[in-house]
Amino acid sequence: MKIDVRAAAPSDIAVDALIAVFFEDEPFTAGPLAGLDAALDGALAACREASELRGRRDEVTYLHAPKGLAAGRLVLVGMGRREADRYQIGRAIAVGVRYLRGKKHASVGVVDRSELGGELFGQLVAEAVESASVDLSAYKTEDRNDLHVEACTVQTDSSREQAVRRGVERGSIVADGIRFARSLGNEPGDKMTPRIMAERAAELAGELGLGIEVLEEERLKELGMGALLGVARGSEEPARLIVLSYEPETATSSDVVAFVGKGITFDSGGISIKPREGMEWMKYDMCGGAAVLGAMRAIAKLKPGRKVLGLVAAAENMPSGKAIKPGDVLRSYSGKTIEVLNTDAEGRLVLSDALTYAIEKGATRIVDLATLTGACVIALGHVFAGLMSNDQEWADGVLAAAGSAGEKIWQLPLDKAYRELIRSDIADIKNLGGRTAGTITAGYFLREFVGSTPWVHLDIAGTAWVEEDRPDIARGATGFGVPTLVELVAPAAS
Ligand code: BES
Ligand code: MN
Ligand code: ZN
Repeated sequence: MKIDVRAAAPSDIAVDALIAVFFEDEPFTAGPLAGLDAALDGALAACREASELRGRRDEVTYLHAPKGLAAGRLVLVGMGRREADRYQIGRAIAVGVRYLRGKKHASVGVVDRSELGGELFGQLVAEAVESASVDLSAYKTEDRNDLHVEACTVQTDSSREQAVRRGVERGSIVADGIRFARSLGNEPGDKMTPRIMAERAAELAGELGLGIEVLEEERLKELGMGALLGVARGSEEPARLIVLSYEPETATSSDVVAFVGKGITFDSGGISIKPREGMEWMKYDMCGGAAVLGAMRAIAKLKPGRKVLGLVAAAENMPSGKAIKPGDVLRSYSGKTIEVLNTDAEGRLVLSDALTYAIEKGATRIVDLATLTGACVIALGHVFAGLMSNDQEWADGVLAAAGSAGEKIWQLPLDKAYRELIRSDIADIKNLGGRTAGTITAGYFLREFVGSTPWVHLDIAGTAWVEEDRPDIARGATGFGVPTLVELVAPAAS
């Protein structure tokens, strides 16, 4: 997508479709839409008088060839009542662009919202416009409902132009990282195996000058990564531990932040096999790993002054005559032994070895991302991701980054009292808690492998993909986590 910034009146933006977003409680006679209303001879205010154009959330009003505008169409998108959420505006722009799917418009424009800083506005537009073009039609040969938009003009005034430009630049980079993560997530399980994921990571590293190490089965065996290998044992697809590294020439911080993603490219449950209904969703069980790769892609372009590692523990969880069984004991890379009571609790197994390896590679702070527990979806739904941590300061840092990046994350307690729920009679730990606190016992399991290194675990089981089309995003992978990770190590100027 080509995104341009123009300091001009909204009525002078010559595009196929001009998008303007507005709040329910916002007048048209003053404020961001006043220029448009004047150019349209008061038509917007007149509609409001007639109780039209209420500005309810996601309400789209589409006008053909409006007289007085250089644009061919006007797309008005409601945002509901103004909340303390600056991402309302980004969402509405995405709704406007997605509304144009199936219509043959090649260029869009977006009208400025001056209550936001120019940089943030530019970033929101870029992210929204890019996001709208991702969908699940890659394997359709007919009935595609494509977005034909190829260029976007961001309208602003000359006082904001430079800031909006900087924001567009950053937004395009973040959006590309999100798009990358979503495209990996949306691939079917047979098109996104651990080996293919590693190849994509290697291409990414080559393209952007990141360091890369891919540990293959033989090396994993030599090292003794029994937990990761145990999960992969039932599958014909060999496991991979992917390690990307970003090392700036001059680091301004001695911190090494490591992102660690769960990369289960398909989770059948293994011998503790899942029910047939909905098992197809488990191709998305690598979305934590995809978010790590997407974030590394953006970070390599934004070039922050600190070292960042990106690890993905990639494996396929399948039942077979070779598969691990309930009751088996695995020896993890850390040396700790794990009693496997349910082979479907595989995410914590592959992550445990990756976390140990991240610390060995010098990580001083860690964030892991995983579609780890169905219990997290029960607790927080598809709205918030769960956060657990062994270090409140680091947790606060991640929560703040998520807030700035527009992602919803909620902290759950990781109290020592939960430890006894994963005590094993025959090994150091078991991979299954009881019926209660399933998200926390999974988080606690991971905690046992990070020692005192500040660590945050994000359970993204409810937010990594959406099951139905929404006005602002297509069904499928969301790229959840990419904005937060990028904001954490390469924050936007505020
Ligand atoms: N990948 C699943 C968790 C999941 C389920 C994510 C549904 C998104 C939607 C994970 O590997 C899993 O199977 N977890 C089990 C753990 C249980 C066996 C302790 C679960 O949540 O049922
Ligand atoms: Mn599972
Ligand atoms: Zn899983």
